[in-house]
Amino acid sequence: MDAITLLESQHEEVELLFGKFDKARSPYAKQALFNVIADSLAAHAAIEERLFYPAVYVGNHTDDLRSVVEEHLAMKRLIADLLALTTSDPKFDPLMKLLQDQIDRHVDREASLFASTRKLLPKRELEALGDAMSGMFDRLMEGAPRHGVPAELGPAVQLS
Ligand SMILES: [Fe+2]
Repeated sequence: MDAITLLESQHEEVELLFGKFDKARSPYAKQALFNVIADSLAAHAAIEERLFYPAVYVGNHTDDLRSVVEEHLAMKRLIADLLALTTSDPKFDPLMKLLQDQIDRHVDREASLFASTRKLLPKRELEALGDAMSGMFDRLMEGAPRHGVPAELGPAVQLS
């Protein structure tokens, strides 16, 4: 799968999970869904920051890429706050709503970024990059990558 199609499908997947979280009522179901959402976002941010963004960090995309990396940092701060709470805490649902809003904005911003970066790389390279990203994502998801998030709250990742 090419890199951009992979990232877009992960965006859709996480939006579906947020929809399920909205409908969940029991603390157990909410916790299970939060864990999957936080793991997916942590692994998604990692493959973007380590593989995708550096591969397309050229020309007039650099400002947008710096912005999305800052968005990742804000998302990681929220995930770290949520990790410290139980789902029955009254702050949990409002913070999840905030996270969902941030992800919606991130997905919108990346939709236009993806449209312009698709032209940057030949199809073969996009496919190879997608394979590497999908492999890294699967390896990360074998653990519980959400637990690495609180250690990533320093300055946003430097792309160059
Ligand atoms: Fe993304």
